[in-house]
Amino acid sequence: MDANAKESPVGIFDSGVGGLTIWDEITRLLPWEHTCYLADSANAPYGEKPPGTILELSRKNTRFLLDRGCKLIVVACNTATTNAIAQLRAGFPVPFVGIEPAIKPAALHSRSGRIGVLATRGTLSSSLFATTSKNYGTGIEILEREGEGLVERIESGALDDPGLRDELARLLRPMLAEGIDHLVLGCTHYPLLLPVLRTFLPPGVQVVDCGLPVARQVRAVLERENLLRGPYGAPEHQLLTNGDPSVMRTVLRRLGHAGDPVRETF
Ligand code: DGL
Repeated sequence: MDANAKESPVGIFDSGVGGLTIWDEITRLLPWEHTCYLADSANAPYGEKPPGTILELSRKNTRFLLDRGCKLIVVACNTATTNAIAQLRAGFPVPFVGIEPAIKPAALHSRSGRIGVLATRGTLSSSLFATTSKNYGTGIEILEREGEGLVERIESGALDDPGLRDELARLLRPMLAEGIDHLVLGCTHYPLLLPVLRTFLPPGVQVVDCGLPVARQVRAVLERENLLRGPYGAPEHQLLTNGDPSVMRTVLRRLGHAGDPVRETF
């Protein structure tokens, strides 16, 4: 890293607009950081793809962000983290921060001894997810459910689609019937469904997602590497997508941000 490395952006990628839920937390916690967000929406969903393809796409996204001078890469995608982060760390000379389903806090706080995890097939079938479940789920029953079709719905911008509530309720009914008291959102797209989820989740079910802990980890790594940018002028945010910028704009507005997404071919 050169002397100006503190001025370099934090790079963030996801298979699409879901990682904006992480970008949102990062920009709130670290308001002076420049960012470069990359949404690979043209290739979403990653969760249906084989691990080798997820790794290749993750490498391509990383190379793109490094070409833009990013000082740290946030893999704002559970599917990419659980399938590729070890190889990314081994293959590129910058620090990485990833995200995986928050089984540990849910298991620690569960009273019923049953927690639910909603995630993509790619995440649920990964060996990292199996290891985390084994390490932190001792004595706890983990009920898993693949969020079939949810990423596609969000990527099409259908956040207010009337059918969404019924679809979510159908997916979660079995684990709710089993008495879960924590629901882990194991995909960065899913916090965008919170307003709909809250219309039917029983009050005793706590929703767990990792946005803020990931932002804190980004801060800790930047501090450790002496890469934290100080309050020296307004930050710039590059918001890039190879999908439909209007969907990204809708999601940004939902999260309370202005900002003008740009279409990029990559
Ligand atoms: N946001 C991604 C995740 O956290 C979605 C994966 C997908 O594209 O299927 O897993």
